Amino acid sequence: ALNAASSDILKGKKVVVTAGGTMERIDPVRYITNDSSGKMGFAIAKAAQALGADVHLIAGHTDEPPPQGISAEQVESAEEMYQAVLRVFDDSDIVIKSAAVADYRPAQVATSKIKKRGDTMTLELVKTTDILESLGQRKSSQYLIGFAAETDSLEQHAKDKLKRKNCDLIVANDVTAAGAGFGTDTNQVHIYDAEGLVLELPLMSKEEVARRLLLLAAERISGRSV
Ligand code: CTP
Ligand code: CA
Repeated sequence: ALNAASSDILKGKKVVVTAGGTMERIDPVRYITNDSSGKMGFAIAKAAQALGADVHLIAGHTDEPPPQGISAEQVESAEEMYQAVLRVFDDSDIVIKSAAVADYRPAQVATSKIKKRGDTMTLELVKTTDILESLGQRKSSQYLIGFAAETDSLEQHAKDKLKRKNCDLIVANDVTAAGAGFGTDTNQVHIYDAEGLVLELPLMSKEEVARRLLLLAAERISGRSV
């Protein structure tokens, strides 16, 4: 059932995807960011479009430019990403938060280059908005998918995030596993919902992970609407 008819399984659905890492400015020449190539998010955007969805990609800092032919919006900071997502959230059907959002940003952004002074330097950081958590509180019919990249206690952290952020699904991966780290072309994920493990995928290309995730989401939302 998921082959012949699957090319338009998301037809008419509005899918919002965030990808890449946010950049939090320290001064005009420096910033704080996270490891994130943007590959997983781009693969999701492309797969959603291939399945017939109307895709809006919101991209932070990535290794490569966003894929051609996809409506993309470039953002820098967590705050900009939050505002960009909020503008389209109410009108979307599926929201996939694959971006690596900085948890903290500098309390002050210097307007001119900070000069080197003493032997140590302290930077004060303040928490950014948790975009996914805020969407989880705001959601009505949107199907919300979060990510959890972990180095340990994968299942426990993933389940905790799913609950705390009120997501419908969480895609968890162990970044220390071979072939599943940052910048790789492959990934190995476990997908959880509130009931527990839904899908455990073997090591496969990020394109295939994306496709399998979207087929699962499509199945779930069609189950809800009938
Ligand atoms: N996320 C977000 N906004 C933030 C931080 C995270 O939307 N300020 C989203 C990520 O895009 C991802 C999910 O929340 O979909 C989990 O991100 P992660 O960094 O694993 O979770 P945190 O809650 O930040 O926990 P920690 O970094 O302590 O593991
Ligand atoms: Ca985090």
